[in-house]
Amino acid sequence: MHVYLDGAYRERALASVSVDDRGFLFGDGAYEVIRVVNGRLVALDRHARRLRRTLDGLSIAPPAEAGTDALTAIIAELLARDALRDGEALIYVQITRGAAPRTHQFPIPDVRPTVYVAAAAFTPPRALRERGASVITHPDIRWGRCDLKTVNLLPNTLAKQRAVEAGADEAVLVREGVVTEGSTSNIFAVIDGELRTHPLTTHILGGVTREVTVEAAAALGVPTREAPVLLEELPHAEELFLTSTTNDVMPIARVDGQPVGTGRPGPVTLRLHHAVAERLGME
Ligand SMILES: Cc1ncc(COP(=O)(O)O)c(C=O)c1O
Repeated sequence: MHVYLDGAYRERALASVSVDDRGFLFGDGAYEVIRVVNGRLVALDRHARRLRRTLDGLSIAPPAEAGTDALTAIIAELLARDALRDGEALIYVQITRGAAPRTHQFPIPDVRPTVYVAAAAFTPPRALRERGASVITHPDIRWGRCDLKTVNLLPNTLAKQRAVEAGADEAVLVREGVVTEGSTSNIFAVIDGELRTHPLTTHILGGVTREVTVEAAAALGVPTREAPVLLEELPHAEELFLTSTTNDVMPIARVDGQPVGTGRPGPVTLRLHHAVAERLGME
């Protein structure tokens, strides 16, 4: 397996970053996860746009690798080197502010950002999609810029761990009675026949799959409102589903052990799953 690190392709086992890297010391960096289907990058433009938005939010000057052309070339090389052009793969891209002696303030002068890209074979969670995911609710203890996709993921990892310990697949985060999103996903609810998801604020990550789902719902004429879902509304939801790059549209079958609707993936969820997969070129 190979990775791209700071301008060179290296054997994964031989790749290393400095102990002074600010990604390591402070979580001072941005990342993206991009799906590849038979060598085709899914929604690359949207991911690249969000990567640049995060870098901008962190005041990291975008390196050349943040551009779609450079990124496409690097990913193509990784897929070729590791024979990942057939079937599905996931690309991980991380850009940190770079390595400098540890101070909280940014280094002066600027240092070169550390750029890391890796590819791995991926199997979509088809069996889970058939039966629906099980989720727990969990306090959203994250910071005030959840709209930035930074590597500072400790609250997300703690919440996901709680879910796994409870035998669930995802933790759904709740801030002051409002359902924000999952630890690694966005969440949608069908309540009284209307599709609802948290609006794009600093309290959620603007998911690429969320964006495509909202577009697909509009095209299908599904009544949709980007408005908060309350924790107390969850037991009354007819359908719930998660969206993310790795899960596409993932039905939720149980919340905190209680069945959602019939306990089976619902009709709006299934329609949107197919529509989103089609829009992303996966069907
Ligand atoms: C907190 C959070 N929200 C939402 C998402 C879904 O985003 P996307 O659909 O772009 O994968 C992710 C993906 O990792 C995430 O970490």
